[in-house]
Amino acid sequence: MTLNKKEIVALLNDEKNQDVLFKQADEIRKQYVGDEVHLRGLIEFSNICRNNCLYCGIRSGNKEAQRYRMEPEEIIATAKQAADMGFKTIVMQSGEDMYYNIDRMCHIIKEIKKFDVAVTLSIGERSYEEYKAFREAGADRYLMRIETTDKDLYHQLDPNMSWQNRYDCLMMIKELGYELGSGIMVGLPNQSVESIAEDLLFLKDIEVDMSGIGPFIPHPQTPLGKEQGGALNLALRTMAIMRLLLPDINIPATTAMETLHPQGRIMALQAGANVVMPNVNSGEYRKLYQLYPGKNNADVASTHAQSDVGKKIISIGRTIGKGYGGHKK
Ligand code: 5AD
Repeated sequence: MTLNKKEIVALLNDEKNQDVLFKQADEIRKQYVGDEVHLRGLIEFSNICRNNCLYCGIRSGNKEAQRYRMEPEEIIATAKQAADMGFKTIVMQSGEDMYYNIDRMCHIIKEIKKFDVAVTLSIGERSYEEYKAFREAGADRYLMRIETTDKDLYHQLDPNMSWQNRYDCLMMIKELGYELGSGIMVGLPNQSVESIAEDLLFLKDIEVDMSGIGPFIPHPQTPLGKEQGGALNLALRTMAIMRLLLPDINIPATTAMETLHPQGRIMALQAGANVVMPNVNSGEYRKLYQLYPGKNNADVASTHAQSDVGKKIISIGRTIGKGYGGHKK
């Protein structure tokens, strides 16, 4: 569906009629990508990061964060467990930690590919040479949110980073034949609905294969700790509009939504989402990967219909995806 900026802004502002929007997004989701919910096993393998984003709990300036870094063999073993549980996609996410150089990353990717899974990387901005090497080692997809398309806001929130470089990275990733994932945060300080509308048009314009929308949640150990957060409904509307604009892409029900509401992911799955990314880390690492407070403390990783997340999916009339769950164009 095509919507112009004015129409998107009107939908974003219309809290009163959001149920109509959610229903429409749910119907389009069903029509284009069906009832399967694809589960991705998420491994957060290092919370060490060279960047200092004002909103993020693992920013380099947060001296209170206890840091960890999983060794390659431990990452591979965790991926094996996830594959044995039935996950057909492994998502490897970390801070921008340069310990994982080409050699280490390619070794990890090649080993994980032996488990007959799709591999998604979410490790931030790298060089073309690195992206190319990871792709040749077998990585299938790459996830990197643009966060916001308001360049002034971006440069305010992500000091010493360049919006243009992030954009260039997304283009390299696409050119190398990865499935491209991106997305934004919603409810950031000084972010307008007009700007969110432009973000959505941007995501359509670059033809993402998947895209995640997360509400901003203030973290007390960051400079934005006292800001207003928790824009769950606005994030859900943003996500639903994205489903209208990009009817066949993969859209996750994000952890940040579940953090703000105990049924947040189910609400998302009924407003356009078709993917859930349960954390497969051990509890000890999970506690330390605190991008924002309250993040994923509870999820038990499982692909079984009888698990908590499985039961919820079945209870709303959906099924658990059995394939790799890539973007079906
Ligand atoms: N609140 C919500 N989402 C956050 N992220 C980072 N910090 C926060 C926060 N305080 C999101 C960013 C990043 C993703 C991994 O987590 O969008 O890309």
